[in-house]
Amino acid sequence: MRLIIYTGKGGTGKTVTSCSTAIKLAEYGHKTLVISSDPAHTLSDALMMPNIGYQVQEILPKLDVLQIDPVTEMRNQFDTTLSYMASIFSAKGIDETLAYEIAMLPGMTQLFSLLKVEELVKQKSFDVIVIDMPASGEALRYLYFPKLVGSIGRKMAGLLGMFGGVARMFQALSKNPIPSKGNIQIEADLLNRIQYLSEIIQNSNMTSIRLVANPDTFSIENAKRALMSASLFGINVDLAIINKIMPHQTTDQYYANWAEFQEGKVEEARANFYPLSLKEIRLHDTELRGLGMLRKNGELLFGNEDPARIYYRGKAFNFSTEENSLRMTVKVPFTEKDDFDLERHGDQLTIKVKNPVGYIVNIVPLPSAALTMKLVKAKLNGDELNVLFAKGI
Ligand SMILES: Nc1ncnc2c1ncn2[C@@H]1O[C@H](COP(=O)(O)OP(=O)(O)O)[C@@H](O)[C@H]1O
Ligand SMILES: [Mg+2]
Repeated sequence: MRLIIYTGKGGTGKTVTSCSTAIKLAEYGHKTLVISSDPAHTLSDALMMPNIGYQVQEILPKLDVLQIDPVTEMRNQFDTTLSYMASIFSAKGIDETLAYEIAMLPGMTQLFSLLKVEELVKQKSFDVIVIDMPASGEALRYLYFPKLVGSIGRKMAGLLGMFGGVARMFQALSKNPIPSKGNIQIEADLLNRIQYLSEIIQNSNMTSIRLVANPDTFSIENAKRALMSASLFGINVDLAIINKIMPHQTTDQYYANWAEFQEGKVEEARANFYPLSLKEIRLHDTELRGLGMLRKNGELLFGNEDPARIYYRGKAFNFSTEENSLRMTVKVPFTEKDDFDLERHGDQLTIKVKNPVGYIVNIVPLPSAALTMKLVKAKLNGDELNVLFAKGI
């Protein structure tokens, strides 16, 4: 079974890319499900099929689709949990409606979408599940959570800890309502399910994250962050797609300028996403939607390749932390010991290397742990750059 997750900034083309991939997968003979948890009718819009509902539904041979509604999922599955959380707040004198509002923290709905994915993975009725992730990569954080829970014990506090800021509030309020047995059971089950999902997602034989960006600074930046976080969380990223590239143009200066700018961005992306392979998709001559266009786009993306293959396995970034230091290994797109130059600006590391073609600049986002540390040492080893950060020297 394969789980292919598309992520990237809003508007870059995650939904259409997910659909194109799924169509191609189905034609390859894989029993495929494409899932979107974006708000509203994203799959309906992309496929131009008005009737896509909140149940799994076959639209082509071997191709099923599902639009997840996080709120429905939450209501179906975890009403009790939510009420319990709300009761903690209302016991503290917070108005009940407001208490529900607080319990519904950001990221919470995504968590419930992920649990739906867990349910579908467990059913084992599909060869490949393609997930069109919502714009923020926040949801991935929740996949990392079981590791933390393991170390503090699978207790109530664990689940509530998951909801970020609530953890702190919860500590202060914990002398209030005592959780009922039923609630504790629900939460233990919930943790087991997240744990299971987390194992699947960290299994590089099963799960691949794919980055979607456009040839612009902002979306490439966003995808780089996603690559870094995925590496931190031990999730395999196997492919990057640069979508909406304008075709080369010579007759009109305005378009020629744009095309040239975008070519530069694609080159930059190639260096930044190294060693992932990069697929380039042009901006079609009209809005990409509908089965026909999506199928054609799938052809352009994958040609005669099976989209289920694992394009890359490995880590673009590797981190190891000791008490007062952080060692980071980054794959860089040059193999000779050329002159290189490192500059650190806050949470970014700029690697500048001279090679036969000129300077290649690779900007690497740094993990939060490095923020309070200084760059101590850097060494280039083949295509790996080793950087050591340490606390207060
Ligand atoms: N290569 C492309 N050529 C033309 N239009 C595109 C292309 N890729 C995406 N689009 C259009 O861009 C818009 C955003 O795409 P969508 O897949 O919804 O992005 P996301 O899911 O990342 O927010 C849609 O209108 C889509 O049809
Ligand atoms: Mg979308």
